[in-house]
Amino acid sequence: MKASLDPVQTLHEEPAEAEVVSHRLMLRAGLVRKLAGGVYSYLPMAVRALRKVEAIIRQEMEAAGAQEVLLPALQPSDLWEKTDRWKAYGPELFRVSDRHERSFALGPTHEEVITDLVSQIIRSYRQLPFLAYQIQTKFRDERRPRFGMLRGREFIMKDAYSFSASEADAHRIYARMQETYARIFRRLGLEHRMVEADSGLIGGNLSHEFMIMADSGEDTVISCEKCVWASNIEKAPDAEICPVCGSPVTSRTAIEVGHVFYLAHKYSAPMGANFLDAAGKEIPFFMGCYGIGVSRILAAAIEQSHDGQGIVWPVSIAPYRNAVLPLGPGMAERPEVLALLDSIESLWPGETYFDDREVRPGMKFQDADLRGFPFQVILGERHVEKGNGEVKIRRSGERIVLPLKDIPALLSARVQAILPES
Ligand SMILES: Nc1ncnc2c1ncn2[C@@H]1O[C@H](COP(=O)(O)OP(=O)(O)O)[C@@H](O)[C@H]1O
Ligand SMILES: [Mg+2]
Ligand SMILES: [Zn+2]
Repeated sequence: MKASLDPVQTLHEEPAEAEVVSHRLMLRAGLVRKLAGGVYSYLPMAVRALRKVEAIIRQEMEAAGAQEVLLPALQPSDLWEKTDRWKAYGPELFRVSDRHERSFALGPTHEEVITDLVSQIIRSYRQLPFLAYQIQTKFRDERRPRFGMLRGREFIMKDAYSFSASEADAHRIYARMQETYARIFRRLGLEHRMVEADSGLIGGNLSHEFMIMADSGEDTVISCEKCVWASNIEKAPDAEICPVCGSPVTSRTAIEVGHVFYLAHKYSAPMGANFLDAAGKEIPFFMGCYGIGVSRILAAAIEQSHDGQGIVWPVSIAPYRNAVLPLGPGMAERPEVLALLDSIESLWPGETYFDDREVRPGMKFQDADLRGFPFQVILGERHVEKGNGEVKIRRSGERIVLPLKDIPALLSARVQAILPES
């Protein structure tokens, strides 16, 4: 991508509307723009990062045996009446009516839709288990939409639903999803923690959340100082010592990025979603559901990883891995610079933001730091004249001067060290 063809400018003033650092940086770096409270447009760089998050989620969900579906956002109210959630969901449910006065919900979650669908497809235990996921826009009329992508009224979620013939099988899938989530967050480059959780409006009795520690978090996590035990404070409001090992606990604010629930018959029973078990008896599906806040992850990653200059993207989800910054008049057309650009391009197709603008070097540095590309290849006239260039690592600030021809190998080695699976 050439910066001269990119109409999106960075903002150098602090946006007044933003309360948290991720929201400020997303506005300043040109990732999103607000349309209405809790409703945002995603600009091209944000979409690139979102697609990378989604690709990792898809790979891991497929590896865990899940199949992708795409379910309607427009959901008839009768479905929601079957589970009593047309009433119970309250004002958070967006409700619309069609020209015939039939009412619909704009899906905040999809338990009703998927349960109805699966009950039409699956008749026998022989067709079980079934694990389906989707990546879709959700609508929730949040009482306090705020903090930008962290709490929107329209946001992107990966949700998944499992259907099992027995409780034991449902628990196996639940455990597999816990492992899958840990892998996903690790690959996303996010430091996270799994905690015991309350099941809230979704219901059920077994539930864990995946949390990213951050000062702006709206949740509080208490965790053991010695072992891995941790809980949402809502679930263990009075805990002063760890129930597993008896050590003291500490509390920290955190952002919930994922949530898994064992639902048992909570949806299948009221909806009459049954199958024939091995004994020929009709019983309800044993269900689980599993969510990840895809758009929230962008903001959470920035909350966890930024500095005074701007965003520090994890390599796995950076909009572009690399910025190439030719400095000075005519440098963007120099044959050495274009040759290097070509060889980086063949190493990582489409992963370079080429700042070919005729602006002063300070502005290129500021913008590249603000946008948080993991690597910057800085090409000043004096270095290039001697056949050299400089690579700056955004996260550590480390700078390496080396021959132009060695730059692709250095970039490749650095990424291999961070992302062995890529
Ligand atoms: N308003 C929102 N804006 C952005 N992401 C959200 C929002 N609500 C939920 N999410 C994301 O979707 C995931 C699944 O949602 P869920 O657990 O059903 O929601 P909640 O915890 O609000 O009841 C959450 O872990 C979170 O990452
Ligand atoms: Mg939740
Ligand atoms: Zn402990």
